[in-house]
Amino acid sequence: MTTGRIAGTGSTTPKRILTNKDLEAIVDTTDEWIIRRTGIKERRISSNGESENTSDLATSASIKALKMAGISPETLDMIVMGTVTPDRQFPSAACLVQEALKASKAVAFDISAGCSGFLYALSVANNAIATGSCKNALVIGAERLSCITNWEDRNTCVLLGDGAGAVVLTPTTNNDGILSTQLESDGSFWDLLYSSKEFSKVPEILDTVEPKPFYVKMEGNRLFKKAVSCLADIAESALAHHGLTSADIKLMVPHQANLRIIRATAEKLAIPMEKVYTNIEKYGNTSSASIPIALDEANREGLLKPGDRVLLVTFGAGLTWGASVVNWSM
Ligand code: UT7
Repeated sequence: MTTGRIAGTGSTTPKRILTNKDLEAIVDTTDEWIIRRTGIKERRISSNGESENTSDLATSASIKALKMAGISPETLDMIVMGTVTPDRQFPSAACLVQEALKASKAVAFDISAGCSGFLYALSVANNAIATGSCKNALVIGAERLSCITNWEDRNTCVLLGDGAGAVVLTPTTNNDGILSTQLESDGSFWDLLYSSKEFSKVPEILDTVEPKPFYVKMEGNRLFKKAVSCLADIAESALAHHGLTSADIKLMVPHQANLRIIRATAEKLAIPMEKVYTNIEKYGNTSSASIPIALDEANREGLLKPGDRVLLVTFGAGLTWGASVVNWSM
């Protein structure tokens, strides 16, 4: 059976670092509260004039992934990007990446699935490869959440950050690619995390942020509980699909929403934290970008070897959630 194999990874985050101390001057919060409740120490904030729009970050991450894979952009058949913060309402950010890469043969489109956007995109690209309608695919998760952050809301502004990650998928018949992907959605909980139709006032020290006419609203506490149960259940289901258990996993790369959510999920799955990759302390929650950034960092740090099984697991607005088991082969 043909599936997609991860042949290259890449990531890019904006230059500007916003620390918890910086946030203390913006809202009523403390470095201590943010670290204790979330694990976040700092996050990256993109700037106008620095070529750090969503599609710019995505293009930069994609170039690194293509280079690692040894694939030229002209041979891509598909570019699919998970994002809730495309540069414009339309055209898609994926089409802007296609133009920047001169990937003229590729069909390009965005997927809106909240923080689960990357895994939804991975599933679509993998299915296209499995059916033979696509050979080489570029799968991206990229966000510029600083543009849709309410900088007056301490419940959310301390959590979010910007960045992009990408993987290149090529076909394989050797059982050394994506083993299974499970996705779920439940629109009845849409109002736990959504975009409201209001403008955010941006503080002076963040004058390089370009606010959009809506911002993130979240019921964090209820979302937290839902996240832990959905993440653990879907991870178990993705593993069971291939007759695997959590003991077969070399590394879990979860969506980086909150270190306490990650720890609770790992505990439910009986996966020790040494086998869980986290970088939330550096980037906060970058929505669709968090898994491909973390996967790229784990890969470049040499944590993965051919034959290792990797568990990707995510949860986000929609609600949406998903898990994927990958046989690593780089
Ligand atoms: O990525 C997609 C999915 N996202 C998630 O799954 C996020 C899920 N939720 C969370 O990560 C957590 O719920 C939060 C980090 C958002 C909040 O942590 P919490 O432990 O659930 O805190 P809480 O909302 O129950 O608030 C506890 C207290 C409240 O004060 P009172 O009412 O006890 O006096 C909040 O007003 O903490 C207060 N608080 C803060 N204090 C200092 C909320 N935000 C802050 C803040 N600094 N930034």
